[in-house]
Amino acid sequence: MLSKRVGDLCTPAFLVDLEKVKQNARVMQERFQKMGVQLRPHMKTHKTVECGDIMTGGSRCCITVSTVAEATFYADHGFDDILYAYPLPLDKVERCAQLSERLSLFHVLVDSTAALHALRQRPLQGGKIWRVWLKLDCDNGRAGVLYSEPLALLLAKDIWQSERVELTGVYAHCGNTYHCSGVEQIQAIAQQTTTLILQFMEKLKDAGIDGPKCSIGSTPSCSHPVPDMAVLSEVHPGNYVFYDVQQSLIGSCSLDDVAVRVLTRVIGHYPHRNQLLVDCGWTALSLDGHGRLPSGYAVIEGHPDLRSESQLSASSLLIYWYVPFPISPLHFPRLVSMTQEHGRVEPVSGNLDYSKFPLGSALSLIPYHACATAAMHPVYFVLSEGAVVDTWKPTRGW
Ligand SMILES: Cc1ncc(COP(=O)(O)O)c(C=O)c1O
Repeated sequence: MLSKRVGDLCTPAFLVDLEKVKQNARVMQERFQKMGVQLRPHMKTHKTVECGDIMTGGSRCCITVSTVAEATFYADHGFDDILYAYPLPLDKVERCAQLSERLSLFHVLVDSTAALHALRQRPLQGGKIWRVWLKLDCDNGRAGVLYSEPLALLLAKDIWQSERVELTGVYAHCGNTYHCSGVEQIQAIAQQTTTLILQFMEKLKDAGIDGPKCSIGSTPSCSHPVPDMAVLSEVHPGNYVFYDVQQSLIGSCSLDDVAVRVLTRVIGHYPHRNQLLVDCGWTALSLDGHGRLPSGYAVIEGHPDLRSESQLSASSLLIYWYVPFPISPLHFPRLVSMTQEHGRVEPVSGNLDYSKFPLGSALSLIPYHACATAAMHPVYFVLSEGAVVDTWKPTRGW
């Protein structure tokens, strides 16, 4: 694709900063290489071949996905060793069987005897065996058998003893790191999850089950791993390749690391209510974050002479907003509400200076949750050195 100016794009548009994506991927890759732990990056944030290539260093091997649609898409593009990290839905067993028969390695996640039974009922062709990860809930409170429940060990034994089924590993997702604020809290959860899964692996050993791998991970925990994580076989973070405002508030990254934006344009001036309208509704940004940021639903990218964005911490975000023009902090705009295709922007206080936001002028929004925002877009515009150099098309569906 010929390079195009960002200013020529139709809005709203999802922008990806290629250099930042490569940098985020490299940092994570190097971090776990040094620790001797296999990185199995999750594709759920972007769902594109190109970003999958960047996250796997071009190997197209050893990835995590959240839907069968993603698994099929990556298999169709030559990726292998794919872990479908979702409690196996019974209606998807046949598609998983076909993926297992087709790929050299395809893994499923199980947290019930019903799912294991369904696998046994569908033996794989071609001498293949089901590769199964037991999903363990290490106090995250979403999917998985609770680590302390007797069922956890019973199910592990049942998988282990099943014919043509391998207990490949134990998988815990520490999504509870999303309630953290700061490195100390993140590392406390990372340590707790690591300790719990390693204790469970000891229980397996005591029961004569030796050999399964163990994997934990979320973007916060893998951005600030604790030393004990070096004992794990794998980690499976995904959001880190983009990062977002939420991650910067948790303490996973700085706002400067965030690789994505939504470009929007001013489409209306309404002085009688001190607001302007932008062409970014929830179909372009999502409602994730519920508008709780001081700047509303997203951070409106600011003026560099105001303050370096990367220096902003969660608490300073409460005071400073990012604006595209050098205007008084009191007048910083907030994206206060959205409908399907419209966004309302108003200043925190004072009157909007409309001459600073002419109709057609662009605003750059840093999304609260990159996974949710990316999911709204059928195409991503990839930027390098300020120019649009590529377009990426994500897969969709389940
Ligand atoms: C099961 C599972 N594994 C891994 C991840 C990746 O974690 P993160 O998005 O924090 O990188 C997620 C994210 O939701 C997940 O649900």
